Amino acid sequence: MKLKFNSTKISFLVLFVLSFFSQVFAQSETGFPPNYYDIIALLLLFIVILVFTGLIYFEEITGKSTSKGKPSLFSRLKKSLSSSVPVEQEEEILLDHDYDGIKELDNRIPPWYNYLFYVTIVFGIVYMLYYHVFSSDKSMYDEYKEEMHTAQIQKEELEKTGTFINAENVKLLTSPADLSSGKSIFEANCVACHRKDAGGLVGPNLTDDYWIHGGGIKNIFHTISEGVPQKGMISWKTQLNPKQIQEVASYVISLHGTNPENPKPPQGTIWKEDEKNNE
Ligand code: HEC
Repeated sequence: MKLKFNSTKISFLVLFVLSFFSQVFAQSETGFPPNYYDIIALLLLFIVILVFTGLIYFEEITGKSTSKGKPSLFSRLKKSLSSSVPVEQEEEILLDHDYDGIKELDNRIPPWYNYLFYVTIVFGIVYMLYYHVFSSDKSMYDEYKEEMHTAQIQKEELEKTGTFINAENVKLLTSPADLSSGKSIFEANCVACHRKDAGGLVGPNLTDDYWIHGGGIKNIFHTISEGVPQKGMISWKTQLNPKQIQEVASYVISLHGTNPENPKPPQGTIWKEDEKNNE
């Protein structure tokens, strides 16, 4: 089978490819940098180029020219893009040095290569005008600043709920505001078992020196957050956010030594508060 290409077929091909790519690029929301659609478009462009080149060589194998005897558009296009010297004339551009039998041809730089270079220059100029002279769109630097700004807001928001606080890095709070919000959390959730004065009821006395699961902000944060379900102390991490657990734990520590009336007898072992635990 012999494939023939005439200008009509090629025009259709070009039209098809162009309309296809305008569709694909129309989907793109950001324009540049490339997103998902741009990458697919580039990939397809690459495939089209591959097929195109394949066709040129296919034509070369099956016959050089069209039926009329004049060179086909493909071979003319190929010639103008590569400007390669026909094999018969290679003698003329052979350089006269010879390295162990390897000889060099003094070929011209293929025009397609130069065209690519010109395209990058034009692209560069358009890019500069678009982003830096007329500021038609946000530059990469502006986008960067914007993203950093959003991230900062998100970070502040997350810090408010204490998302980054855990039993490893939790710090003891001492400010009256934090302790009073710790107090309201305690009174809303904990008094049923620990009593309003934390002297102990179902749960142990939280004001003495004795702790079952260890004293200090880290251990207490851990006990409140994870709970001791088999002993009747629920895990609070689903109901209180880390910041609230930090507050109520700090409040509990602030009650140390308040000697409530009729406390529950000591449970656990003596906890020696040493500086390190509250760092
Ligand atoms: C349903 C009852 C109940 C509620 C509500 C409760 N606790 Fe407890 N809590 C217990 C029991 C029971 C224990 C003892 C667990 C054990 O024996 O291991 C305990 C232990 C603790 C301990 C560890 C004491 C130690 O000696 O190591 C802390 C701290 C604590 N609770 C704080 C809280 C806080 C803060 C709240 C409110 C957010 C709370 N608890 C709500 C029942 C409760």
